Amino acid sequence: MEPHTPPQPLAPVDYDQVQHQVYARGRALPATAVQQYMAVFGAHLPARRPLAGVDLGSGTGRFTPALAEAFGGPVFGVEPADGMRRTAEAEATHPQVTYLAGRAEAIPLADGVADFVLMFLSYHHVVDKPAAAREIARVLKPGGRLLLRSTFQERIPDHWWRGYFPRSWDVERAMFPTVAETQALFAAAGFHTQAVVQMELPFEGDLADAVARLKLRAVSTFEHMTEAELDEGFARLDADLARGAVVEKSTLGDFIVFASPAALQESAIA
Ligand SMILES: C[S@@+](CC[C@H](N)C(=O)[O-])C[C@H]1O[C@@H](n2cnc3c(N)ncnc32)[C@H](O)[C@@H]1O
Repeated sequence: MEPHTPPQPLAPVDYDQVQHQVYARGRALPATAVQQYMAVFGAHLPARRPLAGVDLGSGTGRFTPALAEAFGGPVFGVEPADGMRRTAEAEATHPQVTYLAGRAEAIPLADGVADFVLMFLSYHHVVDKPAAAREIARVLKPGGRLLLRSTFQERIPDHWWRGYFPRSWDVERAMFPTVAETQALFAAAGFHTQAVVQMELPFEGDLADAVARLKLRAVSTFEHMTEAELDEGFARLDADLARGAVVEKSTLGDFIVFASPAALQESAIA
């Protein structure tokens, strides 16, 4: 059983400090995993094409071109950290993708432009979440969907690396919201929960490469841990890797699908 202490508030992570230099390589996903996400997201979106989308907190554009490819676009990647956005502009291009400086609390787009908004592991970084919910409602079209991919406090994944950094359980409990509080926050802005999706993804690739990428520390959880904790964990990980004792584990890809408030008003009128 993992240790349990009450969540403490965490300082925000500035992606322009460290993460932008390492994120694209450290958090690269196999194409199969990206495609699995597109298929599962697509099951919660209208069947017609093209769909216009916003990748809110698009980072280095890990999903932005795939969204345009899968759903037709245009897709706007909105990202506050200049370094992350510059990497996306250089390495994650697509004719239907435009990257914009901005943040969830003040989305630099007109009202009603998007069929969908994706937040992929960006929601927990947003400081003013009620303002973000209002902004997402504003940019979505009637019938639009918010796909909110996050870790939730009640189902924190037991990553393959977790045992080497045991305090990461506490850090992530403090970092991530519960499903219920997320639903309540969006309900207050008029959203309606369409689905709570629990997704499991297999471990893919090579363990030595996974360890090398983890050492880039492109995991914001690590920014809330001490150098001593990280050094100790990586030393144990190296030793276990050398003797073939690192265990591969599947991970989670949970998300909530919300319907825009405008869709509710429309169906109430219809
Ligand atoms: C873990 S990264 C995820 C990036 C991308 N969605 C992905 O999955 O690769 C979190 C991103 O959220 C961005 N972020 C932080 N605060 C934000 C805000 N208020 N609005 C939108 N994005 C924000 C960060 O700059 C960072 O690029």
